Amino acid sequence: MSKMKTAVLISGNGSNLQAIIDAAREPSYPADICLVISNKPDAYGLERAKKAGIKAVVVNHKDFDSRDAFEAEMTRIMEAEGIELVVLAGFMRILNDTFVGHWSHKLINIHPSLLPAFKGTNVYERMINEGVKIAGCTVHFVVPEMDSGPIIAQAEVPVLDGDTADSLSKRILVEEHTLYPRALALVASKQTLGQ
Ligand code: GRF
Repeated sequence: MSKMKTAVLISGNGSNLQAIIDAAREPSYPADICLVISNKPDAYGLERAKKAGIKAVVVNHKDFDSRDAFEAEMTRIMEAEGIELVVLAGFMRILNDTFVGHWSHKLINIHPSLLPAFKGTNVYERMINEGVKIAGCTVHFVVPEMDSGPIIAQAEVPVLDGDTADSLSKRILVEEHTLYPRALALVASKQTLGQ
């Protein structure tokens, strides 16, 4: 079976990266995690990649004069590695249309809400303030408009009495760790939900 050569872009802890690395150890998993790129030199996810024997590269956005130049370097590195799918996992930079267009239909992201509700930032605080009872997470294709691309998979997470932004974020993150590997497998095997 030929596997999709996949890169994961991170900025921090990389717990979703870890979940994907662990899932990809299964011989039948359809994606091969070949490359991790971090825009932050101190991201813990880089250690996770190295421990798993995956090539880990820092592309520090601060080293570039423009966002386009930063993104062009990431694209250059990924193309040199033959990357076919790009997974954003806690990657904390906005991406320009050129990059998103270049990787169109090959670029996925996870967002900690049931999109299209609660796009953007401060998601957990906003959900609690609004009195939402069911939160969740969404894996979607990335399009130029933020948090708006076609939805690949979602999981619900209950909001409990007394939840804080912190407790809710932790409960959602646990669900992300199941959802993201599953959604990536769907994309990598060129399936869609319901087919
Ligand atoms: C997750 O909450 C994810 O939804 C958001 O960034 C966080 C990444 O966490 N996009 P980690 O780096 O995977 O631990």
